[in-house]
Amino acid sequence: MFKYHQKFGKIFKMNLGFFKSVQIGDPTMLETFLRTESIYPKRMDIKPWKMYRDYREEACGLLILDGQEWFQMRRATQNKLMKPKEIFPMDLRINEVMADFIPYIDNICDENGCIADLYSELNKLSYETICYVLYNERYGLLQQTCKEEALLFIKSVKEMMYYLGPLIVSSAELHKKFNTKQWQNHTKAWDNIFLTVKRCIDKSLAQNSVGKRDHLLHVINSDNLLTRKQLYGIFAELQIGGVETTANSLMWIMLHLSRNKDVQQKLLEEIQSTCPSYQAPTASMLQSLPYLKSCIKESMRLTPTVPFTSRTLEEDTNIGGYLIPQGTIAMINFHAMTWNDEFFPHAQEYKPERWMKDKHTINPFAHTPFGIGKRMCIGRRLAELQLQLTLCWLVKNFHINAIDEEPVKAIVSGLMIPARELPVSLKRR
Ligand code: HEM
Repeated sequence: MFKYHQKFGKIFKMNLGFFKSVQIGDPTMLETFLRTESIYPKRMDIKPWKMYRDYREEACGLLILDGQEWFQMRRATQNKLMKPKEIFPMDLRINEVMADFIPYIDNICDENGCIADLYSELNKLSYETICYVLYNERYGLLQQTCKEEALLFIKSVKEMMYYLGPLIVSSAELHKKFNTKQWQNHTKAWDNIFLTVKRCIDKSLAQNSVGKRDHLLHVINSDNLLTRKQLYGIFAELQIGGVETTANSLMWIMLHLSRNKDVQQKLLEEIQSTCPSYQAPTASMLQSLPYLKSCIKESMRLTPTVPFTSRTLEEDTNIGGYLIPQGTIAMINFHAMTWNDEFFPHAQEYKPERWMKDKHTINPFAHTPFGIGKRMCIGRRLAELQLQLTLCWLVKNFHINAIDEEPVKAIVSGLMIPARELPVSLKRR
């Protein structure tokens, strides 16, 4: 998409499988969306997910709902998931998991400090964290004998994403009608996901929850605005979001730090000056770590975990001087903006300093890794807290070293995934 934007400009038309789209790679045009956003902004349909919900009579979550139903569910969850007051106290749980993860790394590193299948190990870390935060349940994923169900959940998320692509670009209805292997595998993966989520929710709610606000299921359920079926639908997506995205972002951050030793050293010094060595980092300490936040932001700019989002135009809209008809799908390509030298000088370089020095000159719409407006990522606060604390722990305890300097290309499979095993190793400080 970046190359297409270089060739065709900041906005162009494109047919994607069955639908027509307009591709957008410009912050000013993105701002137009925000200005014309209705009460119920709509992303492109993820049909196979909706079809699964209809097939099994399950509820949809925020990712796939639209209109009033989406609005009702977002209202019931927004304050609780986006309010620092609710999210910051989760630092204790994240730290508890990290205290297990550091010695776990010692065990899984080989004699050169390399970790086989780092992505899976980070998936285990994020699963352990998200379940502890959402349900107050530990899965022992960072011990020798972990629960099979959790591993199956992680595997099922990856399978579901893998089969989603072919179902989107060809007709999902035909796949379902002829019960193709793709449809069967996609269905099986969702069945496993829902099985785990239902068990987690039922178990947690069966325990006496009156007055408890110590984990997010209780917080969200405290005013009883959502039915049990709706809780299953929304938490399935929160759990998936929690497992895949943060692990993916962490990988890219580790890669950049391994290749930029001066940045890593400066980050270590900032962390050491704020977080005493005998104490775990806290949410309030993070307020004094601007360089840490810049390192994460810069990694998400150069290698965004989610490289695009979309909006379905609800009325004819003038974007960049073109009248785009209602119903058109607008794809917003984050990458096309964040790799553009016009918005980020020396865009291909990893330079966290730009967020310290030039932040007032950077167009805020040029870098929106969590999306924009009313449909912005609802897990943003939690993801940021998790990434910031995890990075503190990792940099405090390990040198993150580069194994080679060859390019690491990315595959886009919903998320942007490194195309090869990450060339980093870890060595205890
Ligand atoms: C939506 C990115 C972590 C749950 C989104 C969107 C993006 C995004 C780009 C689309 C926003 C839009 O269309 O404007 C990310 C990134 C993450 C992350 C980069 C981590 C680094 C999480 C986590 C959760 C989560 C941890 C769950 C706890 C969701 C949900 C939506 C969403 C439910 C749909 C919101 C709605 O439509 O109302 N995310 N996300 N995400 N994300 Fe995340």
